[in-house]
Amino acid sequence: MKMADVIHLNYLLLPVINRFGINLGFGDKTIKEICNNNNVNIAFFLDIVNSYHDENYFPEADFQTFSIKLIIDYLRKAHDNYLQVSVPQIEELINSLVEDCSYQKENIELLKKFFNEYKKEITEHINREEKVVYPYALKVENAYENTKQVYALIDQMKNYSMKDYITEHDNIEEKLYDLKNIIIKYLPPPKNNDLCNRILIKLFNLENDLNDHSRIEEKAMVPKVIKMENELMSKYLKK
Ligand SMILES: [Fe+2]
Ligand SMILES: [Fe+2]
Repeated sequence: MKMADVIHLNYLLLPVINRFGINLGFGDKTIKEICNNNNVNIAFFLDIVNSYHDENYFPEADFQTFSIKLIIDYLRKAHDNYLQVSVPQIEELINSLVEDCSYQKENIELLKKFFNEYKKEITEHINREEKVVYPYALKVENAYENTKQVYALIDQMKNYSMKDYITEHDNIEEKLYDLKNIIIKYLPPPKNNDLCNRILIKLFNLENDLNDHSRIEEKAMVPKVIKMENELMSKYLKK
């Protein structure tokens, strides 16, 4: 299949494809040609793109064949995208709404306050994954593959392991639903429909992307790390 046709099929895949370092200007090149030119693992690319495109498709067994490093590289690019692009863009639009509005200022200030809380929450969620969860997952893979610092890791597992992550991993998509509802249901009819629609579309897109992102964390990264943790425990604790 040609890469250009992928975008014609689902333009929401644009930021997903960009995360692989693949930019527009595809010409008539196929997915395979473009992946090869950009040193992208094509099997991983296809699983990410297909599962993003179809929410009922998630090849869990396939995902177990990719390294944690590969999976986390992708997840980290998505984090950058949320914090550097999506969230600031939504913030900018909400600020324009505040400036634009004279007669329902209190309500819109409330929307802004709610969004600021959300921004704080998503930033903390991402920071914890970047600083604690992902480094831990990479450490497990390193110990598993290179038998490096295995005992130190097993010791650390008593304090923090992937099971703790799965219990603490909260749903950052849920609050977006409330945020959307403030605009859809509770704000008085807006003066600037187009601005409100643009905010809503961006919120829907972010929610969709975050759903996919969390699914990769929970159904691709977590089971793979837990399997390695268990194997390391049973191999090294017996001795
Ligand atoms: Fe994440
Ligand atoms: Fe997460």
